[in-house]
Amino acid sequence: MCGIIGYCGPKPVKEVLIEGLKRLEYRGYDSAGIAIVNDKGLELIKRRGKILDLKKSIPEKVKGFYGIGHTRWATHGGVTDINAHPHVDCTGKIAIAHNGIIENYSSLKEVLLKEGHTFKSDTDSEVIAHLVEKYYDGSLEHAVKEAVSLLKGTYGIVCISVDEPNTIIGARNGSPLVLGIGDNEMFIASDVTAIVAHTKQVVYLEDGEVVKLTRDGFTTTDLRENPIEKEVEHISWELEEIEKAGYSHFMEKEIFEQPEAVKRAMSGRILHPEASAHLGGLNLTNRDLINIERVKIIGAGTSYYAGMVGAYLLESIARVPAQAEIASELRYRNPVVERNTLYFAVSQSGETADTLYAMRELQRKGATVLGICNVVGSTIARESDGGVYIHSGPEIAVASTKAFSSQITVFYLFSLLLARMRNMSFDEGARYIENLQSIPVKIEKVLSRKNEIERIARKYSHYKDFLFLGRGFNFPVALEGALKLKEISYIHAEGYTAAEIKHGPIALINEETPSVFLIPNDSLKEKILSNVKEVKARGGKVIAIATEGDGEIEDIADDVFYIPETAEAFYPYLMVVPLQLFAYFSAIELGRNVDQPRNLAKSVTVE
Ligand code: F6R
Repeated sequence: MCGIIGYCGPKPVKEVLIEGLKRLEYRGYDSAGIAIVNDKGLELIKRRGKILDLKKSIPEKVKGFYGIGHTRWATHGGVTDINAHPHVDCTGKIAIAHNGIIENYSSLKEVLLKEGHTFKSDTDSEVIAHLVEKYYDGSLEHAVKEAVSLLKGTYGIVCISVDEPNTIIGARNGSPLVLGIGDNEMFIASDVTAIVAHTKQVVYLEDGEVVKLTRDGFTTTDLRENPIEKEVEHISWELEEIEKAGYSHFMEKEIFEQPEAVKRAMSGRILHPEASAHLGGLNLTNRDLINIERVKIIGAGTSYYAGMVGAYLLESIARVPAQAEIASELRYRNPVVERNTLYFAVSQSGETADTLYAMRELQRKGATVLGICNVVGSTIARESDGGVYIHSGPEIAVASTKAFSSQITVFYLFSLLLARMRNMSFDEGARYIENLQSIPVKIEKVLSRKNEIERIARKYSHYKDFLFLGRGFNFPVALEGALKLKEISYIHAEGYTAAEIKHGPIALINEETPSVFLIPNDSLKEKILSNVKEVKARGGKVIAIATEGDGEIEDIADDVFYIPETAEAFYPYLMVVPLQLFAYFSAIELGRNVDQPRNLAKSVTVE
C-alpha cells in the first residue's frame, strides 16, 4: 500500500527521503518518487519500479533541505512513471503526495479541466495538486484546507510549494499520518517505520486535522481554523527490531519471533492468584463482562482466521455463543446489532479499510467494538471503544505470521477471563494457564525442526494445487495454511474442514493434488483419520501434521511432521507454525519474493 515521507531540516533531504521510502518498502508498492524544493525551484523525480531505480535516477546535483516522497501501489491509473507520486500543479511549483482514494475525483477533474488546468496523470490524486493551485492566495495551509474540504474519500496528504519555502502541509482523513519531532528538524510520514531511525517523539494526526510543519515545529488546526493541541508520544520500537536480525527474510524472522511474541501478548495479563486474566484496555466492568451474551469478531485475511479461532475458544471454553465474520461482508449487509453483544475488530495494522469501516458501521448502530491491534496509535486502535494491543513488534513481511499467534493469545486470555466468571473452576483455570504458558517453549521445539519442514516443502513445491484440511479449533488453521501458501508461493491451495471434502472437494483428489492434514491427538483424530484414508484410497498424497508419539500416522501418510503434545484447545499455536514454514520454504524453492509477494500490500487501506 502507498507510503509517505516528508522532511524539513538541516540534513540533505534526498537521503532522508530515500531512506524513509526504503523503510516503507515492506508495505508493498509499484513505483516511487520524490519532490524537493531548492534554489532552482521544484525538482521532481519519479519512477515505476524499485526505490533503488529511483535512487539511481536522481542526478547528483539535486540538493535541498525539504521535500516529500511517496511509494505508490496503483489503484487509479496504471503502473507508470507519470502516475507515480508526487504530482504537481500546472505551474510546477506545488507538489503533493497522497495515500487513499478520492472518490469524487472525476467530477472535480471535469471542473478543473474546464477552468483550464492540464492533467498529466490518470490518477485520482492529481486533482489535489490542481485544487491547491486554484485556492493558493499566499497561504499554502489555507489552500490545502480549501482543497481537501472538496474531497470525498480518504486521504493522507503532504504538500510543498516553491512559494512557501521550508514548509510542509499535511492533512488527514482516513489514511494515517504521523509527525516525527527531531532536533531542529521535522518529519511527516504515513507510518512510524519511515522515521523511527531519526526520532522516537511522534504525534499522530486525527481525521479532519491539518498540520503546518517547519524545521522549528508544527501547528495543528481543523478545517475551520480552530487550533488543536496535540500530545507528543514516545514510541518504544527499536530500529533493530525492524531490521532482519540475521534472518534471510522478514517472514522467517517473524515466524521465529513467535515464542517471544506470544509471551509478550501474555505478559502482565495472567492473574495467578485468581487463575484468571486481566486485560487492561477493555474499558469494561465485571458487570459488563458478565452481561455479555454473545461475541462477534470481525477481521480480514489472517486476522479473520485468528478471529475464527477466537470464536471456537469463546464457545468451548467460556460457553459464550461466538461467531467470526469477514469485515467487508458484515459492513454491507446492514448487520443487526443485538443487545449484550460484544464485538471485536481484529487487525494487525489497525488500518485495514474493510475492518475499520465495518467497525464504524457497528459503532453507528450502537455496538461496543473492542480492537485487537498491533500498531499502537493506529486508526482502529484509536477509534475502537477499548481494546488490547498484541505487542508483537513490527510485522514487516506482507504475509502475517506472528500477529496471528499473538491475536489468538488475546482470545485465549479473554476466553479465560469470561470462563472464570462463568463455568470454569479455579483448578481448571490454573491448568489452562499452565497449558498457555507452556506454548512458547513448544513453539520453539517446532521451530528447532524447521529442516524437516524444509525437506517436505522442497519435495512438494512443484505441485500446482493443495488442500489443507483440519477440524474444530484447527479448521481456521487449515484456512490460514492455505492462505499462506497461495499468497507467497502462488501455488493454488484451498482450506476445508476435513469432514467437508466428501461433499465436493474430494473430486479434486488425484496424484497431482496433495492434501495437508492437521491431525492432533484430540477428540476428532479418529474422524480425521477416516478422511485421510478416503484421500489415500483415491491416490492422493498426504502430508500430516500430527502429535509426537502418534506413530500409526506414519503408516498412512506420505510425510509426517510431529508437533509436541498439548491440550486440545491449544493445538492451533503448534499447527500453524509448520504451515507457515511450509509456505515459506515452498516460496523460497520457487524463487518467489517472500517478503513482498506480487499484487499484495501489507496494509490494505482501500476497500
Ligand atoms: C495474510 C495477510 C492479510 C492480512 C489482512 C488483514 O498473510 O497478511 O490477509 O491478514 O489484510 O490485515 P490486518 O490484520 O492488518 O487488518
